[in-house]
Amino acid sequence: MERSAIEPLPIEPLFVDRATEFSALDDVLQLLPRAIRRHTALLGLRRIGKTLLLDQVRRCHPTFAIARLDVDAIVTSPEHFARAFVSEALGAILRARGEHAYIAQTDDGLRAAAASLNADLELSVADILDAIRAEAHGRLLHRALQFPAEVSERLETPLLLMLDEFQDITRLRAFPETDNLLGAFRAALDHPGRVAFVIAGSRVTAMRRLIEDGASPLFTRFTPLELRPFHPDATLELASRIWEDESQFDHDAAARLHRLTGGWPFYVHAVAVRARALAGPEVITSDLVDTAFQQELIGRGGNIALHCQYVLRTATETDSVARRNRLEAILRAMAQDRDVPRARLVRRLTRHSALTEVYHSINELIDEDFLMESEGVLRFADPVFASWLNVEPDRRDPLTSLGNPQALQRLLSWYEAQHAEDRADPASTASGRTPMNSILS
Ligand SMILES: Nc1ncnc2c1ncn2[C@@H]1O[C@H](COP(=O)(O)OP(=O)(O)OP(=O)(O)O)[C@@H](O)[C@H]1O
Ligand SMILES: [Mg+2]
Repeated sequence: MERSAIEPLPIEPLFVDRATEFSALDDVLQLLPRAIRRHTALLGLRRIGKTLLLDQVRRCHPTFAIARLDVDAIVTSPEHFARAFVSEALGAILRARGEHAYIAQTDDGLRAAAASLNADLELSVADILDAIRAEAHGRLLHRALQFPAEVSERLETPLLLMLDEFQDITRLRAFPETDNLLGAFRAALDHPGRVAFVIAGSRVTAMRRLIEDGASPLFTRFTPLELRPFHPDATLELASRIWEDESQFDHDAAARLHRLTGGWPFYVHAVAVRARALAGPEVITSDLVDTAFQQELIGRGGNIALHCQYVLRTATETDSVARRNRLEAILRAMAQDRDVPRARLVRRLTRHSALTEVYHSINELIDEDFLMESEGVLRFADPVFASWLNVEPDRRDPLTSLGNPQALQRLLSWYEAQHAEDRADPASTASGRTPMNSILS
């Protein structure tokens, strides 16, 4: 059996930078005891660092009651959602008091946890369990979403709820009596008291649409907080943590790392760890960073390669083979150039698909944040995913490509071409923040 020499390397989480975003969330916590509720929407593309930031805030405030839920993991049914919501609200209070009791999500487990805190809360839990039994989904969701406010009031404790992958909440709409799901959520946001929500999501366009939706948009209730790729100094900070001390690497190795990864934290981390492993006792040079990047992209066990495989699967997930082929063809065509006018892309693809289908598929990829569009010109949102798609021929036979200087040269010259275009584009800036890079704004 053919084997790639590239084995996955463990990536231990480190936290650097993000001082502005951290302090914005810190302010949310400082204001809450005074009943000033600053609900926050943390928006950022896949692997940009949302979860790490939320974890860091929790770590730095161990005595503040902070509940945290991955919404995508608890929306298989309104019952599942309600039980998780109740248990996490109670758990946050217990943790803030230094009690790390496990709360079983059974009827008895939830009732006992509530009773240990306050007799009235046990009644509220009983009411929620009653709505579960009655399959009264509208009432259930309303009661569950109000439960944190009840907990906070009864126990006179401020409570912050972090809801990660929030956009997936709409999956609950597949159940009867859930039409007013967002209305119930709005009511929870508007409830006076000392409960604030931080919602986070990687599907930025879907999040925006969700919170801007309808006559009474959720969005006006949220302060947006946007996570972008690292600046070069943050890339350097993360690299320095992984490469240990400054005598271990050339300064331009960190600059190269930033350039190849576009400052995307996950890619910075993965390439830096790979370069560290490759260097052994030697100093890390920019050439070594190139090789580490290539290994991460081409080797089947590279963390970047594994992530990109997942991203591609997500981008092309559909029951229709024709549609899947079309989505993938668009991504592959897009990956070859930096900016592609929509009209040119459509022309290239209408040999196999009808015009309207191609348009529709491009719009889908924009809606899912794989592509961005500005004034009729399309661009990849994630530059490393684009270069991974581009090295597909090299990925077929990783061992041969990795030893082949021409393959490395091809990869780097693709980068040179992208950056040359950046330089030629007067709207671009050195940090790569062109107006196109503005899914978030
Ligand atoms: N502030 C940071 N400091 C150091 N590394 C970071 C930072 N932010 C992100 N990373 C790196 O990026 C990886 C992904 O971060 P994280 O899981 O927080 O992203 P996310 O935005 O929640 O992603 P997803 O959309 O997949 O949920 C981390 O495991 C880490 O390697
Ligand atoms: Mg996350």
